[in-house]
Amino acid sequence: MESLHQEIMTWFPDIEKIVKTYLDDGFQESEKENFRDIVTEVDLAVENYLIHKIKALAGSHTILAEESAQELSNPKADRLWCLDPIDGTANLSKQKEDFATMIAYFEAGIPKLAYIFDPVAGKLYYAIQDQGAYLNGKPLKLESQTLKEALVSLDSQTIPGDPLVSLITRESFGIRFLGSTAADCGRVLEGKFAASLNPTSSPWDRAPLFLFAQELGFSFHQINGRACSLQGQESYYFGCPKLYQELKYLIEKEEESCLN
Ligand code: IPD
Ligand code: CA
Ligand code: CA
Repeated sequence: MESLHQEIMTWFPDIEKIVKTYLDDGFQESEKENFRDIVTEVDLAVENYLIHKIKALAGSHTILAEESAQELSNPKADRLWCLDPIDGTANLSKQKEDFATMIAYFEAGIPKLAYIFDPVAGKLYYAIQDQGAYLNGKPLKLESQTLKEALVSLDSQTIPGDPLVSLITRESFGIRFLGSTAADCGRVLEGKFAASLNPTSSPWDRAPLFLFAQELGFSFHQINGRACSLQGQESYYFGCPKLYQELKYLIEKEEESCLN
Protein backbone atom coordinates (compact mmCIF):
# COMPACT_ATOMS: atom_id res chain seq x y z
CA MET A 1 0.00 0.00 0.00
CA GLU A 2 2.98 2.29 0.64
CA SER A 3 3.87 2.64 -3.04
CA LEU A 4 0.26 3.43 -4.02
CA HIS A 5 0.14 6.02 -1.21
CA GLN A 6 3.38 7.57 -2.48
CA GLU A 7 1.95 7.69 -6.00
CA ILE A 8 -1.26 9.40 -4.79
CA MET A 9 0.81 11.95 -2.83
CA THR A 10 2.28 13.13 -6.15
CA TRP A 11 -1.22 14.03 -7.41
CA PHE A 12 -1.93 16.78 -4.85
CA PRO A 13 0.51 19.41 -6.18
CA ASP A 14 -1.15 18.96 -9.60
CA ILE A 15 -4.64 19.31 -8.08
CA GLU A 16 -3.52 22.44 -6.24
CA LYS A 17 -2.24 23.90 -9.52
CA ILE A 18 -5.49 23.10 -11.37
CA VAL A 19 -7.65 24.65 -8.62
CA LYS A 20 -5.51 27.75 -8.11
CA THR A 21 -5.28 28.44 -11.84
CA TYR A 22 -9.09 28.45 -12.06
CA LEU A 23 -9.36 30.59 -8.91
CA ASP A 24 -6.99 33.15 -10.48
CA ASP A 25 -8.41 33.08 -14.02
CA GLY A 26 -12.14 32.49 -13.28
CA PHE A 27 -14.32 29.50 -14.19
CA GLN A 28 -17.69 28.60 -15.70
CA GLU A 29 -20.43 26.96 -13.65
CA SER A 30 -23.73 25.34 -14.55
CA GLU A 31 -26.83 24.12 -12.73
CA LYS A 32 -27.48 20.43 -12.12
CA GLU A 33 -30.81 19.66 -10.43
CA ASN A 34 -31.67 23.11 -9.09
CA PHE A 35 -30.16 26.58 -8.75
CA ARG A 36 -28.25 25.61 -5.58
CA ASP A 37 -26.87 22.41 -7.08
CA ILE A 38 -24.00 23.47 -9.32
CA VAL A 39 -20.99 21.99 -11.05
CA THR A 40 -18.01 24.07 -12.15
CA GLU A 41 -15.15 23.63 -14.58
CA VAL A 42 -12.97 23.06 -11.52
CA ASP A 43 -14.99 20.00 -10.40
CA LEU A 44 -14.77 18.52 -13.90
CA ALA A 45 -11.08 19.26 -14.36
CA VAL A 46 -10.10 17.69 -11.01
CA GLU A 47 -12.31 14.65 -11.61
CA ASN A 48 -10.87 14.13 -15.12
CA TYR A 49 -7.35 14.46 -13.75
CA LEU A 50 -8.00 11.82 -11.05
CA ILE A 51 -9.71 9.39 -13.43
CA HIS A 52 -6.82 9.75 -15.87
CA LYS A 53 -4.30 9.02 -13.08
CA ILE A 54 -6.24 5.99 -11.78
CA LYS A 55 -6.64 4.53 -15.26
CA ALA A 56 -2.86 4.79 -15.73
CA LEU A 57 -2.28 2.50 -12.70
CA ALA A 58 -1.64 -1.22 -13.21
CA GLY A 59 -4.63 -3.58 -12.95
CA SER A 60 -8.34 -2.93 -13.34
CA HIS A 61 -10.03 -0.30 -11.18
CA THR A 62 -13.66 0.53 -10.41
CA ILE A 63 -14.34 4.26 -10.06
CA LEU A 64 -17.33 5.91 -8.41
CA ALA A 65 -16.97 9.62 -9.13
CA GLU A 66 -19.59 12.24 -8.40
CA GLU A 67 -19.59 14.01 -11.74
CA SER A 68 -19.49 10.88 -13.95
CA ALA A 69 -20.35 7.30 -12.92
CA GLN A 70 -22.70 7.64 -9.98
CA GLU A 71 -23.97 4.06 -9.57
CA LEU A 72 -21.98 1.45 -7.70
CA SER A 73 -23.04 -2.09 -8.58
CA ASN A 74 -20.37 -3.86 -6.52
CA PRO A 75 -19.14 -2.13 -3.33
CA LYS A 76 -16.77 -5.10 -2.82
CA ALA A 77 -14.96 -4.62 -6.13
CA ASP A 78 -11.27 -5.65 -6.04
CA ARG A 79 -10.02 -2.07 -6.35
CA LEU A 80 -12.58 0.65 -5.79
CA TRP A 81 -12.10 4.41 -5.83
CA CYS A 82 -14.70 6.89 -4.53
CA LEU A 83 -14.03 10.42 -5.70
CA ASP A 84 -15.53 13.76 -4.81
CA PRO A 85 -13.40 16.11 -6.95
CA ILE A 86 -14.63 19.22 -5.13
CA ASP A 87 -16.68 18.82 -1.98
CA GLY A 88 -18.20 22.20 -1.18
CA THR A 89 -18.69 23.43 -4.75
CA ALA A 90 -21.03 26.17 -3.49
CA ASN A 91 -18.25 27.36 -1.15
CA LEU A 92 -15.79 27.29 -4.05
CA SER A 93 -18.17 29.42 -6.10
CA LYS A 94 -19.18 31.93 -3.40
CA GLN A 95 -16.27 32.01 -0.94
CA LYS A 96 -13.26 30.55 -2.74
CA GLU A 97 -12.48 28.59 0.44
CA ASP A 98 -13.74 25.74 2.62
CA PHE A 99 -13.86 23.11 -0.12
CA ALA A 100 -11.69 20.03 -0.69
CA THR A 101 -10.96 17.07 -2.90
CA MET A 102 -11.85 13.70 -1.34
CA ILE A 103 -10.41 10.35 -2.41
CA ALA A 104 -11.10 6.96 -0.82
CA TYR A 105 -9.60 3.66 -1.95
CA PHE A 106 -10.98 0.21 -1.00
CA GLU A 107 -9.93 -3.34 -1.81
CA ALA A 108 -12.74 -5.91 -1.67
CA GLY A 109 -14.74 -3.55 0.54
CA ILE A 110 -11.86 -2.91 2.99
CA PRO A 111 -10.84 0.77 3.33
CA LYS A 112 -7.14 1.09 2.51
CA LEU A 113 -6.39 4.77 1.85
CA ALA A 114 -8.30 8.02 2.41
CA TYR A 115 -7.50 11.66 1.57
CA ILE A 116 -9.11 15.06 2.15
CA PHE A 117 -7.15 17.84 0.44
CA ASP A 118 -7.92 21.53 0.92
CA PRO A 119 -5.65 23.37 -1.53
CA VAL A 120 -6.51 26.87 -0.27
CA ALA A 121 -5.76 26.13 3.39
CA GLY A 122 -2.82 23.91 2.37
CA LYS A 123 -4.17 20.99 4.40
CA LEU A 124 -3.87 17.34 3.45
CA TYR A 125 -5.53 14.88 5.83
CA TYR A 126 -4.81 11.25 5.03
CA ALA A 127 -5.19 7.80 6.53
CA ILE A 128 -3.48 4.52 5.69
CA GLN A 129 -4.89 1.20 6.89
CA ASP A 130 -3.15 0.11 10.14
CA GLN A 131 -0.77 3.10 9.98
CA GLY A 132 -2.88 5.89 11.46
CA ALA A 133 -4.11 9.22 10.16
CA TYR A 134 -2.18 12.44 9.58
CA LEU A 135 -2.53 16.13 8.82
CA ASN A 136 0.34 17.31 6.62
CA GLY A 137 2.40 14.41 7.94
CA LYS A 138 1.66 15.04 11.64
CA PRO A 139 -0.20 12.22 13.43
CA LEU A 140 -3.81 12.96 14.39
CA LYS A 141 -5.50 11.62 17.50
CA LEU A 142 -8.98 11.53 18.94
CA GLU A 143 -9.65 13.92 21.80
CA SER A 144 -12.82 13.20 23.70
CA GLN A 145 -15.18 16.09 24.50
CA THR A 146 -18.48 16.25 26.31
CA LEU A 147 -21.51 17.81 24.59
CA LYS A 148 -21.28 20.86 26.85
CA GLU A 149 -17.68 21.49 25.70
CA ALA A 150 -18.27 20.66 22.07
CA LEU A 151 -18.78 22.48 18.80
CA VAL A 152 -20.91 20.17 16.66
CA SER A 153 -21.26 20.69 12.95
CA LEU A 154 -24.45 19.96 11.10
CA ASP A 155 -24.77 19.59 7.38
CA SER A 156 -26.01 22.79 5.76
CA GLN A 157 -29.11 20.99 4.49
CA THR A 158 -30.20 20.23 8.05
CA ILE A 159 -33.43 22.05 8.78
CA PRO A 160 -33.38 24.50 11.71
CA GLY A 161 -36.26 23.52 13.99
CA ASP A 162 -35.67 19.81 13.41
CA PRO A 163 -35.84 18.11 16.87
CA LEU A 164 -32.23 16.90 16.60
CA VAL A 165 -30.99 20.40 15.68
CA SER A 166 -32.94 21.89 18.61
CA LEU A 167 -31.49 19.33 20.99
CA ILE A 168 -27.90 19.89 19.87
CA THR A 169 -28.36 23.68 19.92
CA ARG A 170 -29.64 23.50 23.48
CA GLU A 171 -27.18 20.94 24.89
CA SER A 172 -23.87 21.58 23.08
CA PHE A 173 -21.41 24.46 23.39
CA GLY A 174 -22.46 25.50 19.88
CA ILE A 175 -23.40 24.37 16.39
CA ARG A 176 -21.74 25.24 13.09
CA PHE A 177 -22.88 24.99 9.45
CA LEU A 178 -19.95 25.09 7.00
CA GLY A 179 -21.48 23.86 3.72
CA SER A 180 -18.88 21.19 3.03
CA THR A 181 -18.65 17.66 4.35
CA ALA A 182 -14.88 17.78 3.85
CA ALA A 183 -14.49 21.06 5.78
CA ASP A 184 -16.71 19.73 8.59
CA CYS A 185 -14.87 16.43 8.88
CA GLY A 186 -11.45 18.08 8.63
CA ARG A 187 -12.34 20.12 11.69
CA VAL A 188 -13.51 16.96 13.48
CA LEU A 189 -10.20 15.28 12.62
CA GLU A 190 -8.33 18.22 14.16
CA GLY A 191 -10.51 18.19 17.31
CA LYS A 192 -11.92 21.66 16.54
CA PHE A 193 -15.39 20.14 16.25
CA ALA A 194 -16.27 17.11 18.36
CA ALA A 195 -18.65 15.67 15.76
CA SER A 196 -20.31 16.26 12.43
CA LEU A 197 -23.82 15.08 11.58
CA ASN A 198 -25.22 14.84 8.08
CA PRO A 199 -28.81 13.73 7.35
CA THR A 200 -28.35 13.01 3.61
CA SER A 201 -24.85 12.19 2.42
CA SER A 202 -23.90 10.63 -0.92
CA PRO A 203 -21.34 7.77 -0.99
CA TRP A 204 -18.48 10.07 -2.16
CA ASP A 205 -19.25 12.48 0.73
CA ARG A 206 -18.68 9.81 3.36
CA ALA A 207 -16.30 7.31 1.68
CA PRO A 208 -13.05 8.58 3.32
CA LEU A 209 -14.65 8.57 6.77
CA PHE A 210 -14.60 4.76 7.08
CA LEU A 211 -10.81 4.69 7.28
CA PHE A 212 -10.33 7.90 9.29
CA ALA A 213 -12.78 6.54 11.88
CA GLN A 214 -11.12 3.13 11.94
CA GLU A 215 -7.61 4.52 12.33
CA LEU A 216 -8.47 7.12 15.00
CA GLY A 217 -11.27 5.46 16.98
CA PHE A 218 -13.99 7.91 15.96
CA SER A 219 -17.58 6.69 15.70
CA PHE A 220 -18.87 6.62 12.14
CA HIS A 221 -22.33 5.25 11.43
CA GLN A 222 -25.80 6.42 10.46
CA ILE A 223 -27.41 8.81 12.93
CA ASN A 224 -29.69 5.99 14.08
CA GLY A 225 -26.64 3.82 14.86
CA ARG A 226 -26.83 1.48 11.85
CA ALA A 227 -23.67 0.87 9.82
CA CYS A 228 -22.89 3.14 6.87
CA SER A 229 -22.45 1.69 3.40
CA LEU A 230 -21.07 2.88 0.08
CA GLN A 231 -24.47 2.86 -1.59
CA GLY A 232 -27.24 5.43 -1.78
CA GLN A 233 -28.13 8.41 0.39
CA GLU A 234 -27.45 7.85 4.10
CA SER A 235 -27.19 9.97 7.21
CA TYR A 236 -24.02 9.80 9.25
CA TYR A 237 -22.55 10.68 12.63
CA PHE A 238 -18.76 11.16 12.56
CA GLY A 239 -17.08 12.10 15.82
CA CYS A 240 -16.28 11.28 19.43
CA PRO A 241 -17.84 7.98 20.53
CA LYS A 242 -18.77 9.29 24.00
CA LEU A 243 -20.54 12.31 22.55
CA TYR A 244 -22.73 10.00 20.46
CA GLN A 245 -23.67 8.08 23.61
CA GLU A 246 -24.55 11.37 25.34
CA LEU A 247 -26.71 12.43 22.39
CA LYS A 248 -28.40 9.05 22.22
CA TYR A 249 -29.23 9.17 25.93
CA LEU A 250 -30.71 12.68 25.64
CA ILE A 251 -32.74 11.78 22.57
CA GLU A 252 -34.14 8.65 24.20
CA LYS A 253 -34.91 10.63 27.35
CA GLU A 254 -36.89 13.15 25.33
CA GLU A 255 -38.60 10.33 23.48
CA GLU A 256 -38.15 12.36 20.30
CA SER A 257 -38.09 10.44 17.04
CA CYS A 258 -35.07 12.37 15.81
CA LEU A 259 -32.77 9.38 15.34
CA ASN A 260 -34.64 8.28 12.20
C1 IPD B 1 -22.14 18.89 -0.78
C2 IPD B 1 -21.51 19.45 0.47
C3 IPD B 1 -22.60 20.01 1.35
C4 IPD B 1 -23.72 19.05 1.61
C5 IPD B 1 -24.25 18.39 0.35
C6 IPD B 1 -23.12 17.83 -0.47
P1 IPD B 1 -20.78 18.95 -3.07
O1 IPD B 1 -21.13 18.33 -1.61
O2 IPD B 1 -20.80 18.46 1.18
O3 IPD B 1 -22.10 20.36 2.62
O4 IPD B 1 -24.78 19.75 2.19
O5 IPD B 1 -25.12 17.33 0.72
O6 IPD B 1 -23.65 17.30 -1.68
O7 IPD B 1 -22.02 18.86 -3.90
O8 IPD B 1 -20.32 20.34 -2.87
O9 IPD B 1 -19.75 17.97 -3.50
CA1 CA C 1 -18.63 17.47 -5.32
CA1 CA D 1 -19.81 16.30 -1.81
